[in-house]
Amino acid sequence: MKNKRILAIETSCDETSAAVIENGDTILSNIVASQIKSHQRFGGVVPEIASRHHVEQITLIIEEAMQEANVTYDDLDAVAVTEGPGLVGALLIGVNAAKAVAFAHGLPLISVNHITGHIFANQLVNKMAFPLLALVVSGGHTELIYMESEETFEIIGETRDDAAGEAYDKIGRVLGVPYPGGKHIDEMAHKGEDTYHFPRAMINEDHYDFSFSGLKSSFINTVHNAKQKGEDINELNLATSFQTAVVDVLVTKTIRAVKEKGVKQLVLAGGVAANKGLREALTTKVAEELPDLDLLIPPLSLCGDNAAMIGAAAFVKLDNQDFATMALNGTPGLAVS
Ligand code: KG4
Ligand code: ZN
Repeated sequence: MKNKRILAIETSCDETSAAVIENGDTILSNIVASQIKSHQRFGGVVPEIASRHHVEQITLIIEEAMQEANVTYDDLDAVAVTEGPGLVGALLIGVNAAKAVAFAHGLPLISVNHITGHIFANQLVNKMAFPLLALVVSGGHTELIYMESEETFEIIGETRDDAAGEAYDKIGRVLGVPYPGGKHIDEMAHKGEDTYHFPRAMINEDHYDFSFSGLKSSFINTVHNAKQKGEDINELNLATSFQTAVVDVLVTKTIRAVKEKGVKQLVLAGGVAANKGLREALTTKVAEELPDLDLLIPPLSLCGDNAAMIGAAAFVKLDNQDFATMALNGTPGLAVS
């Protein structure tokens, strides 16, 4: 069988990325240019700045991905790009770059949902097996997605307010760690103890939705109250208590969903999948309670935003000849499908 290669592009937020993926599961190249340093002094991603960086970077990053993969445009079978969800201005840069390459080289264009991409990052690690349950935890999303096959997505639970990563970043700001706070809080959480016992919202309720805004408020109130009273706060214990609460809820609900759905595989996906506490807790719980379950956790390099995951997800559409037209637009609120 001839090898099939996809050039994939991802620009939905603050990473400009291009990758060349072979047969949906092999990375020939995956170049990721992070803009974090430009956004850090604002304490979050500034959409205008993100777009500007993408414009400056995209052509160079695509060329670098092609060079590192050691392929020419004749070796490609399609060009894939993130259609959404994400920042509209940022998405548009990727979509237009992908259209230009597709048009110039007579290649089919494939649109990919960013969340689907995060899930398919796992295909680059190990073969995905269906039905599966995906726990998607990122800066913008916290979802439990049941997949009967590689083309069907059923959201069985989601956050009712903040996403897990968003909560991390917000409390990170309160503790004065650089944006995005998730990674820093994770490091601190391994050095303290759960002394604050923050609430675990809806942990025992009979559904798979999440809520992190109460936990976030509880954390912020604890810090403010202590400051007003001139009391000492133990930042390491605060971080540990916060992380323990987040991980406890995520793992408890995910394990319950796996049991109810009877899936073959559980896959972790999204930026927060890099969280050491979550990775450890999920691995331990699965070993204890579901030893026959296949658990896939992407390597750290594939947890955050990257184009390789977009290329992996696009392969399903290439197989089905499910192509986009030149009318493709960036869709900021694109639903997973
Ligand atoms: O998937 P991603 O790169 O972008 C979105 O699609 O949102 O996720 C970024 C999120 C940020 O909120 C960041 O703080 C969080 O992932 N994150 C972490 C860790 N590494 C990144 N959260 C907790 N622990 C980590 N180690
Ligand atoms: Zn993402």
